[in-house]
Amino acid sequence: MTNLSKDLEETIDHWVSKFPVERKRSAVVAALLAAQEENGGWLSESLMQAVADYLELSQIEVYEVATFYDMFELKPIGKHKIGLCTNVSCKLRGSDEIEAALHQKLGIGLGQTTEDGLFTLRETECLGACANAPVCQVNNNTFHEDLTVESMLALVERLEREA
Ligand code: FES
Repeated sequence: MTNLSKDLEETIDHWVSKFPVERKRSAVVAALLAAQEENGGWLSESLMQAVADYLELSQIEVYEVATFYDMFELKPIGKHKIGLCTNVSCKLRGSDEIEAALHQKLGIGLGQTTEDGLFTLRETECLGACANAPVCQVNNNTFHEDLTVESMLALVERLEREA
């Protein structure tokens, strides 16, 4: 059985306080995001159960949310998650070349993690920045637009240096 840390409980309490008392379940997305971040980027079953217990939800209710949204990971992932948009505008503007360059540089394809655990590559649907395609998202919170092979590889190298 997993217990939530005090910090995580405080974060969840913060989000719960944003909703009417009888709607504390509305904090589930924010609670799962915080739990995922604290757990190194992914949600284990026992962690989802602990969040469910804390919010007085059933495990399946929490699992439904965690499997519906793309930003939740249910298996361990790399330190940096690169989500490359492969939707139509990004395809037309060169996401295939960027994907190939990432594959060559990191030795992994979409949906895979490098052996050193530093990078996970993901395919994403449209990130809503088609005018600046091709686009990628790093760690669910940083967007990089107008990518070229050179700028993508420079970004990867910067992330490697920061590791
Ligand atoms: Fe890639 Fe819209 S298609 S951002």
